[in-house]
Amino acid sequence: MPTRSNPQPLLSERILWAGSLFGFLIAGFTGALYRWKLLSGSPEILSPTHIRHAHSHLMFFSWVIPALFLLIKAEVERITRKAWPSWTNWVIFATVLLGFLTYPPFLLHGYGPASFGTLRLPLAPIFSSWNILAWYLFIALYLRVTWTVTRSLSLRLLDLAMFFLVLSSLGAWGRLVLVRLQVQDPFWTSLMVHTFLVLFTDGWLIFALLALLIADLPTPGPTVRWGTWMLAVGLPFSVLLSLPHTVLPQALLIPAAVGGALVAIGVALMAWPAWASATPWRVPLAFLLVKAVMELGYTIPPVARWALYNGFRIPYLHILLLGFGTLGIFTAVQRRWGVAWSPGLPALRVGILILLLALIPLTGIWPKTLGGRWTQVLALWSDLLVVAIALWIWARIVVSPSPIRSEPPGPPAL
Ligand code: HEM
Repeated sequence: MPTRSNPQPLLSERILWAGSLFGFLIAGFTGALYRWKLLSGSPEILSPTHIRHAHSHLMFFSWVIPALFLLIKAEVERITRKAWPSWTNWVIFATVLLGFLTYPPFLLHGYGPASFGTLRLPLAPIFSSWNILAWYLFIALYLRVTWTVTRSLSLRLLDLAMFFLVLSSLGAWGRLVLVRLQVQDPFWTSLMVHTFLVLFTDGWLIFALLALLIADLPTPGPTVRWGTWMLAVGLPFSVLLSLPHTVLPQALLIPAAVGGALVAIGVALMAWPAWASATPWRVPLAFLLVKAVMELGYTIPPVARWALYNGFRIPYLHILLLGFGTLGIFTAVQRRWGVAWSPGLPALRVGILILLLALIPLTGIWPKTLGGRWTQVLALWSDLLVVAIALWIWARIVVSPSPIRSEPPGPPAL
């Protein structure tokens, strides 16, 4: 794979990269806190559900979003040779900051309101909606910079990533509306949550990272366009596949299965050619292919019920979000800006593999006779291992004098 010649990042971009990595650190630590809570019951004031919400929202808001925005901005600048407005980095900074603002209210109150005397304010939903408005601002800037540019395959994939980010946000708005209207119908609440989750992970994250990967390849490979179509068409239907079977009407079973199969095969067709030519990407791609195989299994109702019953949801999500998503972001940063910006990647790969393997004894396929408290303890330690590696990487990025470009003249970009 040829090496790329990219300009070194600006100081403001280094601050943003360190900031989003800090989001990963705190969110990862919160995941470990969830395991600690299950083991010890403490801290008593926090509910496990709220801890989980704080973890997943911080991962999305302050890690995946700003890190990918930063990479997309750099990639679009490289492809189009057009500069973004100087305040774009402030928008990315806002996503990191607003992500952190959602964290305490999610941790303490979940989606519910916080009380200030007689005033009751749903702070987590409020800050989440501001965060989504910052996404829209970035998408508007993306459209402005790329509007007149001829679409390469990578740019088309980025267009789709932005489209699915907007579509997924409709699920988040819908969820807020249902909370406001106090609607508790399980079909509609699940539909909104899963519209957000599936379109964010399988739509925004996969399209954005594959766009960055394909930009790295000399030729994308013949099957990528087919895969792109299948993924884009199948995605909205695959949301149904992720709904609990108890709430999914019989009539929607077939569209759900077809959608899931299109997504699984589409992802494989997009990822497979890259496997041959993109060596540094192989580890994240391997996780993406495992996710595709699992999703194909979910299209068969008895298999899906078996997987749900045996607790495969969390491993499935983390194979995609940690194995592919997080390692993909680190790989893309290393390919663009060099090892100094993404040090310790081999250690992170090993740590993440251990974390994912440690989830197996928590599933129903693990023999009951071999189970027990140690399985939770192992999961806790493997979570802490990844957090420790991420802390070391973060410290290296913050303290090491890795090369940076000087900021352009004018007011500071950040
Ligand atoms: C250091 C890395 C990570 C650790 C230690 C970790 C830990 C955890 C734990 C303990 C849970 C709850 C498991 C359960 O319910 O049994 C969880 C759930 C979840 N995590 Fe992670 N995770 C990590 C990375 C990520 C990343 C990178 C993302 C997304 C970008 C993510 C998104 C989620 C989501 C969406 C859930 C489900 C939340 C829910 O059902 O409410 N996690 N994670």
